[in-house]
Amino acid sequence: MSGYVKEKTYVTSPLLPELEDVYSEIRGIFASKWLTNMGEKHKELENKLKNELKVNNLSLFNNGTIALLTAIKALNLPQGSEVITTPFTFAATPHSIVWNGLKPIFCDIEPNTMTLDAQKIEELVTPNTSAILGVHVYGFPCNVEAIQKIANKYNLKVIYDAAHAFSTEIDGKGIGTFGDISAFSFHATKLFNTIEGGALSYNDSSLERKVYNLRNFGIRNEEVVEEVGINGKMNELQAAFGLLNLKIYRKEQEKRKKLKEFYDDKLEKIRGIRIPKIPKNVTNSYQYYPIIIEDDYPISRNEIYDRFKEENIFTRKYFYPACSDYDCYKNDLAVKLAHLPVTNDLKNKVLCLPYYGSLRKETAEYIVSRLQNEMN
Ligand SMILES: Cc1ncc(COP(=O)(O)O)c(C=O)c1O
Repeated sequence: MSGYVKEKTYVTSPLLPELEDVYSEIRGIFASKWLTNMGEKHKELENKLKNELKVNNLSLFNNGTIALLTAIKALNLPQGSEVITTPFTFAATPHSIVWNGLKPIFCDIEPNTMTLDAQKIEELVTPNTSAILGVHVYGFPCNVEAIQKIANKYNLKVIYDAAHAFSTEIDGKGIGTFGDISAFSFHATKLFNTIEGGALSYNDSSLERKVYNLRNFGIRNEEVVEEVGINGKMNELQAAFGLLNLKIYRKEQEKRKKLKEFYDDKLEKIRGIRIPKIPKNVTNSYQYYPIIIEDDYPISRNEIYDRFKEENIFTRKYFYPACSDYDCYKNDLAVKLAHLPVTNDLKNKVLCLPYYGSLRKETAEYIVSRLQNEMN
């Protein structure tokens, strides 16, 4: 194919600010001699993100997993109680439930958005259920209205893993305003990154003190330790990196939007390839570009993955295996009995294509042409 240079191509490439700008930030931080513990950069990023994400309260964290662990902890759910969640997610989601001494109950997903199927949640509610934990997977929002209705009916807390949903909005409302608390990840692979990092957003301002304490060993002041906290603090270098990326992530989204339009236009015409559709009232985070390889495509998802890999193009089978297949969960009786037909079908069909602003046009064209000619 003309212009295509075979080079290692990954599913994403981190958003990087100008190196000179990073140097300048580092110089400032060196001069201040304040490296961590809620410094100036930390405060500035917290405020700016609150506006950017249109949320009422926001607390930064050193990574998304510690943020999610803390979100669950902050809600004081009864020990051993059950949390209904999706198996179609990254390991951090169910692990955070278990690290909190709670039990994940896997619920099946919707075929289009691949988020928790709200129709199937209610049948899993027991007297022991304390919360629902949904994941806005690939930035596709959960059915937040239906989930909240069920939560209200059974007096359950609602937690969202919004790791993929930076800047996603539903009807103009920030994704982090739904449910009781939402956890974001700012890992290097995420659209907006602080190298490693994360945040919690929540509506109830009274949670602020709890979250602050849990993030900082439970230390309130020099002489008072109020509770059993952890170290979840984001440092000044991470925060400064975030401030720089905050200025450029919209441009990156624009590029990804164009790439999505290109992929959509070409791939929608191929028999056996399905493109999940984001609802009209939702803004896309442009975090991932998943496609579904249906049974009528001539070769399987795994064959496509292997053939691209032979050509140094590293697509990802997000999310294969499903969490319900993990060695650490699969032998649990509730997991064995779980009815997960959609998850078990889609985990073998979904493939995330290389998706980032600086992906060369020729590479995108090559990927499309390989799928068009059925990888022959
Ligand atoms: C759905 C989901 N939840 C949680 C996390 C954990 O975030 P972090 O890597 O920042 O700890 C990730 C990704 O990395 C994720 O994809």
